[in-house]
Amino acid sequence: MDAFVVRPAGPLSGRVRVNGAKNSSLKLVAAALLAEGRSVVRNVPDIADMRVMAGVLAHLGADVDHDGDAWSVDVPAVVGTATPPALAARLRASICVLGPLLARCGRARAALPGGDRIGSRNIDMHLGGLERMGATVEFGPDFVEARADRLVGADIDLEFASVGATENLLMAAVRAAGTTTIANAAREPEVADLAAFLNAMGADVRGAGTPTVEVRGVGELRPATHQVVPDRIEAGTFAVAAAVSDGEVELEGVVPGHLRLALDKLRAAGIEAEAGDTTLTVRGRGALRGVDVVTLPYPGFPTDLQPQFLVLLSQAAGTSMVTENVFDGRFSAVAELARMGADAYVEGHHIIVRGRRRLRGATVRATDVRAGAALVLAGLVADGPTVVLDPHHVDRGYADFAGRLRALGADIERRGVPARAGAA
Ligand code: UD1
Repeated sequence: MDAFVVRPAGPLSGRVRVNGAKNSSLKLVAAALLAEGRSVVRNVPDIADMRVMAGVLAHLGADVDHDGDAWSVDVPAVVGTATPPALAARLRASICVLGPLLARCGRARAALPGGDRIGSRNIDMHLGGLERMGATVEFGPDFVEARADRLVGADIDLEFASVGATENLLMAAVRAAGTTTIANAAREPEVADLAAFLNAMGADVRGAGTPTVEVRGVGELRPATHQVVPDRIEAGTFAVAAAVSDGEVELEGVVPGHLRLALDKLRAAGIEAEAGDTTLTVRGRGALRGVDVVTLPYPGFPTDLQPQFLVLLSQAAGTSMVTENVFDGRFSAVAELARMGADAYVEGHHIIVRGRRRLRGATVRATDVRAGAALVLAGLVADGPTVVLDPHHVDRGYADFAGRLRALGADIERRGVPARAGAA
């Protein structure tokens, strides 16, 4: 059985280049399905989720290839309309092919998605929006199927600013007849990135990145080339690694403006964070102070940085309260961190962290991509060694996480551990 083994090695220092955003790349390659021909997406991270998505697209008939971080997706005149269950079960984002396939083919069957187990993760808003555009939706035992001879523009009010629903509806609306307005749309930079790609394909999307997105449907789209926006969550994870180890790390290839609230929280906790145009220098200054954090859709504090911040707060003076508003089950890092000596517990949708507890090395288990990354960060400051089981969760979203931390001075290796370690 595979694991990350992390030992304390003092402050991290050096530079790290941040990759393109996972949550953008996955949708961009799906959007390529909207046009016949070869689209190219650059700055795509080398992560396991992308490989699964490539399998989904290949199953639909696309020819997917990559040269370094440039992915080409060549889409034939006729594409399949059903996603493969085995792959979809491993990747929630696979649901995002529903919108583009329906727009392109008039029907789409998506195997019900998997991905991180961090709450109920419904798709009712995706489906309700498609129905508003004239689709009929039916459920099978393990799939959902949508059909529409021609989608028609509609006014859609989202109950919650869901990232996935906004993106799926956007990809459906670009080829619908007439205008679609999505109110209470997600404002994440990845949504704006998707809209920019769609516009490069010939779509007419306005207002992406604001709460109201307007899409005028066009008949045909053409393939396009696009550069993926930097991954703000990867950047935030390395920022916390620098902060918690009391180190100094320069992040390259970031958009600091996408991390504003996270940086405010780091500064309030006593960390220096210096933003350049595309760089961010994060510097520890000794004593950390506790801060309260509330996760919310963008521009609120990202839920995808919540577990990493728990590690930082476990080392900060005072008591901090972290409130999780986006996912109802995103607390798995708490129990694992507690096994390492953190004084943290869940109360309703709050996590209470009493800080300045010495972390001790233990055998812990990654249960999702961000919780896994957080446990690795905890290992940086624990009296080692810390063994993080199930590192494949981390591979889903971070390219060569261990190697890049090692380049910053961390003592981390990936190796086989006896199976009984998993029983711990
Ligand atoms: C995306 C990101 C994920 C991030 C999340 C919130 C990808 C691949 N994943 O996930 O990393 O944590 O945004 O920033 O981009 N919901 C419903 N009904 C729906 C849709 C969503 O109830 O139809 C609920 C979900 O259960 C969840 C909340 O809304 O509690 C937020 O979900 P959403 O914003 O859709 O997240 P994802 O797109 O799944």
